[in-house]
Amino acid sequence: MDTSQTAATGRTSAETDALIKILDIGDTAPGARELRARSYELLGLVPDASVVDVGCGAGRAAAEMAERGARVVGVDPDERMIGVAAQRWPGAGFRLADAYALPFADGSLDGYRAEKVFHVLDDPARAVAEARRVLAPGGRIVLLGQDWDTILIESGDAELTRTIVHARADLVRTPRVVRGSRNLLLDADFTDVTVETRTWIFTGASAVPILADLAGKVRAAGAISDEQAEAWIAEQRDRGSRDRLFLALPFFLTAATRPALSGR
Ligand SMILES: C[S@@+](CC[C@H](N)C(=O)[O-])C[C@H]1O[C@@H](n2cnc3c(N)ncnc32)[C@H](O)[C@@H]1O
Repeated sequence: MDTSQTAATGRTSAETDALIKILDIGDTAPGARELRARSYELLGLVPDASVVDVGCGAGRAAAEMAERGARVVGVDPDERMIGVAAQRWPGAGFRLADAYALPFADGSLDGYRAEKVFHVLDDPARAVAEARRVLAPGGRIVLLGQDWDTILIESGDAELTRTIVHARADLVRTPRVVRGSRNLLLDADFTDVTVETRTWIFTGASAVPILADLAGKVRAAGAISDEQAEAWIAEQRDRGSRDRLFLALPFFLTAATRPALSGR
């Protein structure tokens, strides 16, 4: 197993590969494709638009925008992610870079997109300031993400489920950042700020790895015991096998325009 670490994210390559597996399951959720398509609409994506997908992960959205004719660069500080993205989607461009220091000139981009990224940032306002720097006047920003305290899971043990969901949220740097995204953009003087929501609903056994990952991380952090984690995962596995699993993840799309005239 490759255990080399990416300094920027602190993840090993094996951990990045595990994350990619979870993200791939999410990408197949009913509604995931529609959510991405809506983000491209909100970006006002047109052929030849220059767009960055920040924290692009394994690159699916960057590739979809490239297929629509945009000039896209997917950036991510994780070398392994960028390697997988470039291998999977040779038609799109990918670069190693951080949300706080994007490799683009001031005012050079038409669009900025970040999906499931701002919750991992310790300073989302700094990332928004960087987005504002690289966007041209009239450029669009779209932030997509989930609220980590608002994950709905059907279980016979509601109390343990609540503990798992909240303990998992506590492991995330900024778990409730989507609630503040509108304010972040307003405070950075973006205009036309809108917020929409779409909910991903999983009812099949394919979602069991997502739930097992959730409980596994909470167990590793010591918030629940091995026995509790095993029993809870077994219940979810059983639900999956009987078509009785229910997991809902509300996603929020916060979009705005970089103003044409700026005092800053
Ligand atoms: C949950 S993944 C989402 C990936 C992709 N956007 C998607 O929707 O599948 C979060 C991504 O943010 C990246 N990331 C972590 N820290 C970052 C930073 N400081 N700047 C930009 N991206 C970062 C991670 O490497 C990872 O690929």
